Amino acid sequence: MKKSAAIHKAPQKKPAAVSVALDQPGIPALDFGSAWEYSAAPESTSVTVQDRYELFIGGKFVRPKSGRYFQSVNPATEKPLARIAQANAADVDSAVKAARKAYDGVWGKMSGRERGKYLFRIARMIQERARELAILETMDGGKPIKESRDVDLPLVAAHFFYYAGWADKLNYAFPGKSARSIGVAGQIIPWNFPLMMAAWKIAPALACGNTVVLKPAETTSITAMHLAQIFQDAGLPDGVVNIITGVGRTGAALVEHPDIDKIAFTGSTDVGKKIAAAVAGSGKRLTLELGGKAANILMEDAPINQAVEGIINGIFFNQGHVCCAGSRLLVEESVYPQVLRRLRDRMRTLRVGDPLDKNTDIGAINSREQLNRICELVDSGVEEGAELFQSPCALPGSGYWFRPSFFTGVTASHRIAREEIFGPVLSVMTFRTPAEAIERANNTCYGLSAGIWTDKGSKIFKMASQLKAGVIWANTYNKFDPTSPFGGYKESGFGREGGLHGLLPYVVLE
Ligand code: NAI
Ligand code: MG
Repeated sequence: MKKSAAIHKAPQKKPAAVSVALDQPGIPALDFGSAWEYSAAPESTSVTVQDRYELFIGGKFVRPKSGRYFQSVNPATEKPLARIAQANAADVDSAVKAARKAYDGVWGKMSGRERGKYLFRIARMIQERARELAILETMDGGKPIKESRDVDLPLVAAHFFYYAGWADKLNYAFPGKSARSIGVAGQIIPWNFPLMMAAWKIAPALACGNTVVLKPAETTSITAMHLAQIFQDAGLPDGVVNIITGVGRTGAALVEHPDIDKIAFTGSTDVGKKIAAAVAGSGKRLTLELGGKAANILMEDAPINQAVEGIINGIFFNQGHVCCAGSRLLVEESVYPQVLRRLRDRMRTLRVGDPLDKNTDIGAINSREQLNRICELVDSGVEEGAELFQSPCALPGSGYWFRPSFFTGVTASHRIAREEIFGPVLSVMTFRTPAEAIERANNTCYGLSAGIWTDKGSKIFKMASQLKAGVIWANTYNKFDPTSPFGGYKESGFGREGGLHGLLPYVVLE
């Protein structure tokens, strides 16, 4: 690990070797000049972070029965932010009981029209408190404020608005059938989009008449507890949403609880497999949204500058902490040198640093564990013979950082081409024909997303029909909308979130 820290953290270290393809004559370097220099523009941090966050059970903030708390740190400074309650099996049981009581007593019987009113109110309150929530999301998780403010929070509110609209129209969603709620849903979410994942899970569950026990990820629990305050302020009946914080064991206790009717999980494929094994034969319903190893396919007729911008967004957005990140770039051989050169020049202008600065492009890696995972995989790439380019940008002295990087000379057998890196690291490969591009793109155990860059609509349709991925973007990347279903195939999981399809996991159709 020491070696990784030296390569990836030292600000003055000379970047690793640049690919031979970049040194070919005849390709002018892009001069971004001084247009990219900005003064620091830090977002104000005048938000209240509590010293301690309790569990949210039955509409109240309660101390954990274990009496134990764990620290959440700010990954950009490594400084402690708050102590978070550690729920044990007894706390999980209280939360499930509260959710069952609310389901039987209030929410399960309430008309869709009434449920919709609560969801609309919650959506509006999220909008009103969006700035506070965005700052907290950035402080606790490390993502740049321009993403939490302009991407995450608008989508969080949009999800509540969208599913509020469905609450009284479920019988129109499924013509000829009547949709009944399921009961109590246990929902376990990761740290890469903490509030967005909470919204993706809670909003459709509530719209369909279910109650919820949600378990946020241990490094990013704070905004979920502020969302709990919004539920309280909105007058949501007690126990309709319960939020229990804790580590993996807390999630496992929720999965194993006998009075849960449905589990929804987003996270690693390893934990997803454990959950699938744990619920097998229990009658609990399950949806899993797991990892990915998406290919971005760049054809020679694509508008190269636009494509490079999209590829950069596809892998460096949110530090690459994105299950659908375009972590493999497949470039048509004829344009490979230009693409590589533009990619390198543009990457040199990316600003890595203080996530609360409005001009920051790439924020902090979410945790030391995640930084270690990224470093270990990048080291394996170097050891297996791929060539690493890293942006020479300066990095802050403390905090968890990783330079935007790409590998060339990657073969399909390298670990960096097969395993999810979940960091700002791109593996670049080439292809000669569309058929070869499809074969390479599909050569993965995952199937969550893919991207195609070309000037020809016909190529988009032809390739999209052959790519084995749940979401395919054409001439854009990482665009989300509550009306659009999202989910994967193969080891990326099953079930869809978003859109009309996102209602299905939360209803019984009769
Ligand atoms: P993880 O899968 O361990 O964590 C996700 C959530 O599951 C957290 O809330 C965690 O507390 C919970 N959890 C952990 N063990 C559990 C268990 N046995 N039963 C029930 N819940 C459990 O992910 P982790 O360790 O934080 O990240 C590891 C790798 O997973 C990343 O490097 C990345 O490759 C991938 N990942 C994928 C995500 C996605 O969006 N698909 C999100 C987060 C991580
Ligand atoms: Mg944190």
